[in-house]
Amino acid sequence: DKILMVNQILSEFRLKKEDLKEIMKRMQQEIERGLRVETHEEASVKMLPTYVCSTPEGSEVGDFLALDLGGTNFRVMLVIVGEDEESKWRVETKNQMYSIPEDAMTGTAEMLFDYIAECMSDFLDKHHIKHKKLPLGFTFSFPVRHEDIDKGILINWTKGFKASGAEGNNIVGLLRDAIKRRGDFEMDVVAMVNDTVATMVSCYYEDRSCEVGMIVGTGCNACFMEEMRTVELVEGEEGRMCVNTEWGAFGDNGELEDFRLEYDRVVDETSINPGHQLYEKLISGKYMGELVRLVLLKLVNEDLLFNGEASELLKTRGSFETRYVSQVESDTGDRKQIYNILSSLGVLPSEMDCDIVRLVCESVSTRSAHMCGAGLAGVINRMRARRSLEALKITVGVDGSVYKLHPCFSDRFHKIVWDLTPHCEITFIQSEEGSGRGAALISAVACKMASCMK
Ligand code: BG6
Ligand code: GLC
Repeated sequence: DKILMVNQILSEFRLKKEDLKEIMKRMQQEIERGLRVETHEEASVKMLPTYVCSTPEGSEVGDFLALDLGGTNFRVMLVIVGEDEESKWRVETKNQMYSIPEDAMTGTAEMLFDYIAECMSDFLDKHHIKHKKLPLGFTFSFPVRHEDIDKGILINWTKGFKASGAEGNNIVGLLRDAIKRRGDFEMDVVAMVNDTVATMVSCYYEDRSCEVGMIVGTGCNACFMEEMRTVELVEGEEGRMCVNTEWGAFGDNGELEDFRLEYDRVVDETSINPGHQLYEKLISGKYMGELVRLVLLKLVNEDLLFNGEASELLKTRGSFETRYVSQVESDTGDRKQIYNILSSLGVLPSEMDCDIVRLVCESVSTRSAHMCGAGLAGVINRMRARRSLEALKITVGVDGSVYKLHPCFSDRFHKIVWDLTPHCEITFIQSEEGSGRGAALISAVACKMASCMK
């Protein structure tokens, strides 16, 4: 009957279909409010125009540099974009990962961008291409208010970044300044894009129905192609423009209060940005492990786990990493993996303890998949309605560590999305190195339009 009591506590995480439909409906309302000029300011879901449009004028071919900042890793890439009769193709030739030191993340914007420029310089040296003035596509995975494809201000940092002096400023300008300060190479920054957008575009060249991009990793967000005439923040009626929803901020106006649990409130209150990104905090990898840890402590307090005693480590914020959630749920049934993780956290679990920890992980990660699924279903049902289609056939390009590495997240997620979207035929494709390729392809189109390489 211990398990019964545990299940009782965990039942709070279970979302019924009516709940998911309600969340979906509220998401659609916020999407609508974000798009409209009169309500945009106060809307939690910002629906940011990206200036990535559906009418590509063809693209340049050649070498492009791509930067990828905002996921688990910071990366510099060299991408070759080419074209044959059928389609564009691209080969990613070189790729280097750099870690962003904590003080660059939370110091000043100058420090952060100086560090980025330093990594670029190192990369160019290594590949003997410092003399070339390459066009650059910058995947910058934060909410940006664009004025054009190569100009936009950072609205606010998310996901634990906090470099001062960046919010409210043109990010491409900050990058150009840092490159100028170094003075040892030149670069032509032609496009800045969100990771969702880069992911969508990279998949688009494989599947022309790919009009949605989604990330479930450190953060969680989606973008999609919206009819120009409803993107009220930008003039023009023809065609479609990709809109970065920034749906991670859904709930910041109280739209999720009846679904947020005590653990969610603690995660939020102890985060670097309390009151912000509340939907993201229910879903993404930056918070999932911590949610599990808080539930484990609750069960310990109720004397249902570890003989009512938690180790110092387990009492420490952040000690239960999100990758442990994946590992616990990948356990084959012999509990070895679970046992090892828990002993590394300083507790000696019984078999029953291992089973309970697994139940906790399943509850938290399943809620995450379902919450996220309700959001995507909202986006896709809305697309079908806007396009007045009997049936909508669409592909979603996806990336991110939770989606890719958790053993059951994607299955649970797909199932719920399909379930909530009658009359839609949805295909999911995983993007491989999507951000680099996507940013390069978008830059190649931007170059063509600006004739910047001529
Ligand atoms: C990467 C993309 O593969 O996934 C990044 O290249 C993206 O642009 C990232 O931000 C998201 O996943 P995570 O788990 O690294 O946050
Ligand atoms: C955060 C960012 C968003 C990004 C997402 C996934 O939600 O605000 O821009 O797309 O994380 O990386």
